[in-house]
Amino acid sequence: MFPRASTSWAFFLTLIFSYGYRKLTRKHRRTSVIPPAGERVLILGASSGIGRDIALRYTSRGARVCLVGRRKDRLEAVADECKAVGSTGRAVLAITSDFANVKDMVHARSVLEKEWEGIDTIIVAAGVSALRPILEVAQVTTPESDASEQGIQSAVNAAEAATKGNYIGPMIAAIAFIPMLKRTSKSPSILLVSSLGAVIPAPTRSIYGSTKSASLLLYQALAIEHPSINFSFVLPSTVQGDFRASAVDVPPLSSTSEARNPTYNTSGLKVEYVAQRCIQAVDQAQKILFLPEMMVLGHLLYWLWPSFIEKRAMKKYGFVAR
Ligand SMILES: NC(=O)c1ccc[n+]([C@@H]2O[C@H](COP(=O)([O-])OP(=O)(O)OC[C@H]3O[C@@H](n4cnc5c(N)ncnc54)[C@H](OP(=O)(O)O)[C@@H]3O)[C@@H](O)[C@H]2O)c1
Repeated sequence: MFPRASTSWAFFLTLIFSYGYRKLTRKHRRTSVIPPAGERVLILGASSGIGRDIALRYTSRGARVCLVGRRKDRLEAVADECKAVGSTGRAVLAITSDFANVKDMVHARSVLEKEWEGIDTIIVAAGVSALRPILEVAQVTTPESDASEQGIQSAVNAAEAATKGNYIGPMIAAIAFIPMLKRTSKSPSILLVSSLGAVIPAPTRSIYGSTKSASLLLYQALAIEHPSINFSFVLPSTVQGDFRASAVDVPPLSSTSEARNPTYNTSGLKVEYVAQRCIQAVDQAQKILFLPEMMVLGHLLYWLWPSFIEKRAMKKYGFVAR
């Protein structure tokens, strides 16, 4: 038996009103518990891009920030920028570390315990890109040829590097910091910078999307296991910047121009906008944020009409199937 049209409309309108009500009442809930100037923020992946901008924003409103990244020179430059924006001394910590390395994260935790006696907010912005179709990574050049052992190994190597940067890193960070976060903060929060590619498949992004998807699901499950922590998941579409330079699957002579020239990407969302929305999501305890917000429709539509989304994805990436 089908519900009558009026019942369906009532249900639909109730959903919309409760969504609007939640959005309105969510505002400024966390900042009344932890004033921005008293917040202790750990930013994993702070040496460039979104993580760097988030660090500058937190510093400019008086928070203490701990910056983590592997490139020492870039990290120290960001630390100097943060100090210039407003904080001094112990308010800015820079720890050159790999978040996919257990020892590094245990060391970072002991520094935070000693310097700040804990943390309130963890921003997981670190991640690496992968830009090529997986069979191309495996050196399959024609429809007639099979992948060689060496070719398959190349794909495995790329997938392992992406898994390390996009899944193992977030996993180690969660295990290393969750107990301290819960023990030491009045309002513990974790924000994961995920990707639209984690929930909507895209050509040339099979390795990237699937590894980002793994960390998203991991953190979504952690959110259920640790209800005292506010988890926020931000899923941006393409963002301007250098992210492609971190590609783990690009040999010197790659066939796609994007993979050959991973230069600064000038199209896409502005880094400043994404960073500002990330901080807002933490302040307002917003669980899931698509950027642009309307891309949530693309995610829903994929399950209802996959061929439509697949065609749009091929167009966006200029991909032609062989
Ligand atoms: N750019 C986009 O189009 C886009 C779109 C959607 C989602 N995202 C996501 O946004 C996040 C930030 O990307 P972005 O655009 O700001 O690119 P980015 O400028 O390349 O920033 C990535 C940051 O992650 C750090 N990082 C990478 N691997 C690390 C590791 N093993 N240990 C510690 N730090 C590590 C990098 O620092 P070091 O190299 O110094 O370690 C860098 O600070 C990523 O998670 C990405 O998946 C990006």
